Amino acid sequence: MDINNIRSQFPILERQVSGRPLVYLDNTATSQTPMMVVDEIARCYTHCKANVHRGVHTLSQEATDLQEATREKVRAYINADSIQEVIFTRGTTEAINLVAATYGRSFKDGDEIILTVMEHHANIVPWQLAIGDKQVKINVVGLNDRGELDIDQYKSYFNAHTVFAAFCHVSNVLGTVNPVKEMIAYAHEHGARVLIDGAQASPHLAIDVRDLDCDFYVFSSHKMYGPTGVGVLYGKRELLEQMPPYQGGGEMIKHVTMEKTTYADLPFKFEAGTPDFVDIAAFSKAIDFIQSIGIETIARHEEDLLHYATEQLLRIPGLRIYGTSEHKSAVISFLVGDIHPYDIGMLLDKLGVAVRTGHHCAQPLMDYYDIPGTVRASFAVYNTRQEVDAFIAALQRILPMLG
Ligand code: ALA
Repeated sequence: MDINNIRSQFPILERQVSGRPLVYLDNTATSQTPMMVVDEIARCYTHCKANVHRGVHTLSQEATDLQEATREKVRAYINADSIQEVIFTRGTTEAINLVAATYGRSFKDGDEIILTVMEHHANIVPWQLAIGDKQVKINVVGLNDRGELDIDQYKSYFNAHTVFAAFCHVSNVLGTVNPVKEMIAYAHEHGARVLIDGAQASPHLAIDVRDLDCDFYVFSSHKMYGPTGVGVLYGKRELLEQMPPYQGGGEMIKHVTMEKTTYADLPFKFEAGTPDFVDIAAFSKAIDFIQSIGIETIARHEEDLLHYATEQLLRIPGLRIYGTSEHKSAVISFLVGDIHPYDIGMLLDKLGVAVRTGHHCAQPLMDYYDIPGTVRASFAVYNTRQEVDAFIAALQRILPMLG
């Protein structure tokens, strides 16, 4: 892997922050974007911006071709059976809301669903909204002391009333990579459907939805070196066909009268209104970027950074890491003594180091650990051991100031 070549594709990494070279370690929140993606956005705006699926003119057809070529690229990337199973959304959050608001309508009094305590709010709140006033029980899977799911507890929740389970592939706080294939198979043995929140997995792991046999899999472009405002919902065709539309509007219809509407075929039934077609087109280049390096190569590089940083962090007195699974993505959440995470994050920023602090949109997980939040460093393909050294040096410099 030619790290200098990779870094040269990300001009933002040349930035100074607080008069120091930027060390960007907030990749779990969003990754940076290589020029091939930025160039494609500019090319679309300057060359073929026209609304998709709505015109016979050349520009509209070219824009449509770009969007649909991205759909095919995503299909192949996740090994979906058909492009009809690939729905573009605004992001992971909208994709989960779509499934909760449509498939979730089938939930009825007495049903039970399963979530886990490590879920992002985006994989909790939509299910609460879907349940509304219905008497549907949410069973919550807890953790062991390494921050791994208690799989025995997960299995114990299945009974004749269990209809659905939703859980993340990788935790955005703990980095834990969950045994999703085994969990999906167990749910299916008990007649339940499964949604996987893949927002934190898709930038780091190969995704094969047919091998996983998941019913729904969701992820975002902006964490995969792609543009903001684009996400993907993969769903099994037979389920998507049964589900009612999510939003009404242009392009999701077959025929509209003032009394009644018939709906378009998949995937357009779920894509009301003008999609973010420029960013969808550019997302294709982000997948090219990942494939030009290889997802396994990216994972190996990030794993090296994870181990290198973890070893050094553990030498700091009073520092404790949340999430110590052997199956872990390159995310390190930590606290030092009783220092508030915001104080660490703000002082690190003064030394050019960008980390995320707070509850990471996972308040139930913070409650579980009885902490207000953590400091979180997360790595991407362009990060280096030198940046880890700069991060550790910055931390060692600020900690004495914070007592
Ligand atoms: N879900 C993103 C994070 O974990 C925003 O930071």
